[in-house]
Amino acid sequence: MGFLYVVLIIYATLVGKASESVSAPAMFVFGDSLADSGNNNYIPTLAKSNYPPYGIDFPQGPTGRFSNGKLAVDLIDHYIKGRITLCFVAELLGLPYPPPYSDPSTNGPQMLPGVNYASAASGILDDTGKQYMGPIPLSKQINNFRETASRIFGLFGQNVTAMNDYMSRVLVIMSVGSNDYLNNYLRPDLYTTSTQYSPLAFSNLLVQQIGQQLLALYNTGVRRFVVYSLGPIGCTPNQLVGQNCNDRVNQMVVLFNSALRSLIIDLNLHFPGANLAYGDVYGIVSDVLINPTPYGFSVSIQGCCGVDTGRVQWNCIAGIAPCSNRNAYVFWDSLHPTEALNRIIAQRSYAGPQSDIYPFNIQQLASQ
Ligand SMILES: *[C@@H]1O[C@H](CO)[C@@H](O)[C@H](O)[C@H]1NC(C)=O
Repeated sequence: MGFLYVVLIIYATLVGKASESVSAPAMFVFGDSLADSGNNNYIPTLAKSNYPPYGIDFPQGPTGRFSNGKLAVDLIDHYIKGRITLCFVAELLGLPYPPPYSDPSTNGPQMLPGVNYASAASGILDDTGKQYMGPIPLSKQINNFRETASRIFGLFGQNVTAMNDYMSRVLVIMSVGSNDYLNNYLRPDLYTTSTQYSPLAFSNLLVQQIGQQLLALYNTGVRRFVVYSLGPIGCTPNQLVGQNCNDRVNQMVVLFNSALRSLIIDLNLHFPGANLAYGDVYGIVSDVLINPTPYGFSVSIQGCCGVDTGRVQWNCIAGIAPCSNRNAYVFWDSLHPTEALNRIIAQRSYAGPQSDIYPFNIQQLASQ
């Protein structure tokens, strides 16, 4: 108990020192496999990536991240907390990034720099990804956050002033919705949504649900939000038609993104004291796909690791050696970005212009 108390004091001091520049005391992450840092390792689901070659470029090896290395949220966490502060806190707490909520050791002061609730295969709709059994849907992720918040309130000795100050400065990052298409709407063999809803009606349903979840977070005191658009899913190796992007799928994604962007603009007006940013992953990744050479990419029509063919298979086959020039690949498996692409998404949403993230970038959001 004494040790935890000392850690808590040191953490508070460090965050206080860092607050002169860009400062967010914590980052809470919601979403799917683009953001999952290992939650699915601890729950009985089939959507897992805690085996080689996943994590081949990650310091701790396979962790459940769906990439060869770091995710965009890992890199953003670095930028926000500042490298010196982060390394020091990481050493103290033994964890480099917001730890997965489902890890039983995510407890006490380890929750203070933030927690990751994202779950691969999950979506905005509770039903999404059910064929993988048990991913944690967005609604449940928000409930899990509420539980964390009440435990953090306890760590603060139930001091309302301290809690409100902390919550108003934490950063929430949300990256969700891809599976509502890939593992729901685009799987008429398993789901009825495509007969119940037009693409437009479905996109509106999804965005309306996101709005409700953002309101729930706002009501807990959160004031800084980053919500990412969907990427061009029709251009992932899994969805290509021959060597071309699947336009039908991309058109659905564009409907969703456009409704999401309007929602974010609207909530900036209707959530007093809050700042929300819309991160245009679609635009950033499309830029890279149209003009890959300046970014160092030469391969975008297949992933770097070995994947079974067919739409249903997208994950790396265990134990097969991946490509060696991983920075030349846009995609790692047939759906997920390499660390090289994640780095571009992270950099451009952290410090990019309004065409990349609107109306503020993360750097601006974290210094307001
Ligand atoms: C509550 O927290 C605030 C801000 O950190 C601090 O100034 C105040 O002294 C605390 N109140 C109590 C009763 O500990």
